[in-house]
This record gives sequence, C-alpha cells and structure tokens, in this order.
Amino acid sequence: PLPRGKAAPPRWLEPIAPSCEDALLLPKGFSFDRVISWNDPLGSLDPDNLPEHFGFNNDFIAYFPIDALEGGVNSNEGLLWVNHEYPNPLFVSGYTPDDLKANKPKTLTQIEAERRSVGGSVLHVRRGPQGWQRVFNSPYPRRITAAYPPIALTGPAASLLPTAIGSLANCSGGRTPWYTALSCEENYPDYNTEFRWSDQPTLALDETRYGWVMEVDPFGQLPPVKHTALGRFKHENAAVTRTTSGRVVVYMGDDENDQHLYKYVSNGTDHPNASRAERRRLLEDGTLYAADLANGRWIPLVYTEKVGRLIEASPAFAAAKAANPSLRITNQAELLIHTRVAARALGATPLDRCEDCEVHPLDGSVYVAMTNNTKHGNLYGHIVRIVEDGDDAASETFRYEIFLAGGPQCGLACPDNLAFDRHGNLWVVCDMSSDKIGAGAYRPFGNNGLFVVPTTGPSAGDAFQFASGPNDCELTGPWFTEDGQTLFLSVQHPGELSSSLDELTSHWPDGGDALPKPTVVALRGPFGP
Ligand code: FEO
Ligand code: CA
Ligand code: CA
Ligand code: CA
Repeated sequence: PLPRGKAAPPRWLEPIAPSCEDALLLPKGFSFDRVISWNDPLGSLDPDNLPEHFGFNNDFIAYFPIDALEGGVNSNEGLLWVNHEYPNPLFVSGYTPDDLKANKPKTLTQIEAERRSVGGSVLHVRRGPQGWQRVFNSPYPRRITAAYPPIALTGPAASLLPTAIGSLANCSGGRTPWYTALSCEENYPDYNTEFRWSDQPTLALDETRYGWVMEVDPFGQLPPVKHTALGRFKHENAAVTRTTSGRVVVYMGDDENDQHLYKYVSNGTDHPNASRAERRRLLEDGTLYAADLANGRWIPLVYTEKVGRLIEASPAFAAAKAANPSLRITNQAELLIHTRVAARALGATPLDRCEDCEVHPLDGSVYVAMTNNTKHGNLYGHIVRIVEDGDDAASETFRYEIFLAGGPQCGLACPDNLAFDRHGNLWVVCDMSSDKIGAGAYRPFGNNGLFVVPTTGPSAGDAFQFASGPNDCELTGPWFTEDGQTLFLSVQHPGELSSSLDELTSHWPDGGDALPKPTVVALRGPFGP
C-alpha cells in the first residue's frame, strides 16, 4: 500500500527535522535526563573485589518496577537491565585504529579491559524532583561481563556445553512475565577476529558457548543461565508473549543478510503463582520454529532420524560442512548448536537482516524490523507485520504484510529496535551504519534518529521523527515504564568514527573537548494524549 502522502502527526507531537548536529534533539516540550554513561562507577564490587563500572556501548534496556515481584507497577522507581554490546578499542583498551593497521597483537591487559566492557549492567533508578537519577547504596547494581564466572547452559545442548565463561555481544533482548531479562548474544564471531581476542590464546573464545539467549534476574534471586532451547545464531532480540492457553512464546531475529526469523513455544504453561525458578524452566523445554514466509508456516526444528537425513542431504549442510569439516547434526543438541544450518535446510526464508521484533499490545500481531540487505539492494529496510492464524502465538501458520517500507518518502531508513507505547504507536530507532550517515543514498536522513509510527487511524504506517542522535551514534534500547510516561533510551557509539583521541568526531554528552560516551537517558513524556 505504500508509498503515499503522510497524514497529520499525532496531536501531541511536533516532529523534528533530520539533523547532523552533534546533539540529542527532541521535539518541543520534551527533555531528557542523563542516567549513566560509560565507565561511571556502579558502587558494586566484582568477584575480585574490584569496583564495577558501567560498560561500553549500552544497547537493550528493560525496566523492572521495584515492586514487580509483589505485583506492583511502580513507574517512579525500578531496576534497569542494560546490555553492553561491544567495545570500541580506541576508548576502552587504548588499542588504536593505527595499531590495527599495523597488525599489532592485542595485549592481555587490553583484552581484559575489553572483556569487562561488555555483557550487561543492573542499575537502580528513581524519579524525583531532579528527574531520573541512580539510587546509590543499593544492593542491586552489578555487572555481568565476558569475564563473569561460568554461566550454566540449560536445555538440550547443555549436555554438550554445560557452561560458558561470561556473556558478550549483548545486543537487544526482552523481559519475561516473571521479571527477568533476556539478553541476546549477537555478533559473537567478531571477538576472536575483529577484536582480536585470539591474539591471547588463553582468552580466545570457544564460539559454541556464545550466540545464545542469556536470562538474567535483575533482582538477584536467580543465577544467570543461557537457554539453548532458543537456538544459537546471531540473536538480536527476544520478544516474549503468551499463547491463548498460557504457553510462553519468544519471537527472535537473526541479524545477518539472508538469515531467518524464529519463534520458541514452551511445552508447559505459565502459572503466575508458581515460583520464579519454576517459571523460568519454561524456556528449557519447548519447540523452536523458523519462519517460512513464502508458505506462511512455522517450521519446527525438531530432530528425528528423518529430519536428520533431510538436513544432511541439503545444500545448506554441504556448504556449512565445507567451512567446518567437523559439523554433525545427529541429535537435538547438535541441531541447536547449528540452528542456522537446520533452519535453512528445512526451508526457512532468507530475510533482510531481522533486527527487533515486538508484539502489538492491543492486537497481538508481531512487527519485525528488517534493517536492510545490501546483497539485494535493499538499502532502507522495511517492517513486516505477522498475524498468527487464529490470533494465537502458538499457531503453526500465519499471514504477513509489509507494514512500512523505509526510504526518503517514508523519512526513516534501516529500522532496528522497536517498542510499542500503550496506545499502540510503534517507536522505531534507526541504524544506518555510522560510516554511511549523511552521505550518498542516506544523505536525506541526517544522523540516526527515533520515529513514532501510528499503527491505526489515518496516519497508520507514517513515520514522524521524534529524536535525532549525536554524531555516528545509533539510538537503541527504547523501553517505556509501565505508566508510559518515561522512555528509557540508549545512545550507543557516539563518535564511533574517531580515528584517534585527538580527532574525535563527537563530544557528546559532555561537549567541549570531552570524549564521547555511550549513555542511558530517560525521556519524560507525556507521550500521547
Ligand atoms: Fe546489534 Fe543487529 O543489532
Ligand atoms: Ca540492533
Ligand atoms: Ca524492542
Ligand atoms: Ca543494526
């Protein structure tokens, strides 16, 4: 149905124009509070009794009302789980772009600094007369890093891979009905290679232990685990909902050109009166499916001898085997470790880089951001809307439509994270890669921004710009408090293109000559009528 002329924006919003200013710009009437920036002390100690700091490149944010475990919905005090996706070595470890050009090996100290900069943080925040601030002297703040003590794996692949050291590449995620965070390990192959952790053999990664979904309890009652039943790939996100019969469903994207969309459906049903430890076990036993959009069906990724023969006979398996001669898929554990191979072999549709998925709060349909696919000339990406048959997330069949096509006419390019507000407006952040911002096909869009897209009414599908970020950054992790009056947001990788500490491309948020710092901000509403 697109493109078409835009209808009027929502009455409460005066959209801003695209901008290349090194600032976080918001519409008239809105302001933000700075909650925390990279390297700020958390007030907590790590297992070696060293002070813990907020990590680098904050991404996904989930808000947990401080009284959530007692059934409360406090929107003025809560915990935040924040992902830290990847380090910028120039800032984190002092390994410069020139060092990389010179092919200089990374030192143990440099890699140790980078290991502590990724994973995630728990923060305690409160809204007072000065806006949102951190609560100090709280028992909750703590870090999970790539150096965290071994984390148990659960589910079918745990028999082969019982534990993993820490977590890394934590991109987007989700929140469970029992108030834990799901933290998704995305670009784990970059660590041994691009980040050169394999320069120090003792710190090189066994990659099979990453690329999973980690579950973290911000309240600290349950230990972190990685759920292998949810598959292993470049996990972008984990959007959680329930079926009409109360089973737990997780929609998940795999962010790479021509990879797939997945959903997990638990075997058991969720009983809100059960303990949190029991409820989390729903993520250990269930069915993982991959999406076949051409035929509107969810393909179960369940190992049987027949399925094993189909996989082994497929071109996908042959190609993967050529790259990895030790590849075997002879049981469910191996299938999950090589989820992509099984999904492709069984007919999953190659897609244009699935980023975030979100479930519409009013009608249950699933919105999936496909950010772009340069292999096929899809420069601007699009958003797909999936409607499960019978409006039941357990359904094995579905229909879909293109909800929004990115591009100059639409006003946004390369949709990435999504969030719904209580009125059903879709909030979309964009991720044009930093080296392409403001040039060529991406010139009209300015810096990466945040957009509001109504899903009903005359302006359904029209994008209105709400924020523009500082130079080189991507806005990530949008998350509303329960009352919809605060939007937490990550400003990730400002100044990412800096070639040295003397040639910084951004000084946000401190200005002057300051180093740029990834930062969590709280935007205060009212967002809506
Ligand atoms: Fe880390 Fe696909 O975004
Ligand atoms: Ca993303
Ligand atoms: Ca989201
Ligand atoms: Ca992205």
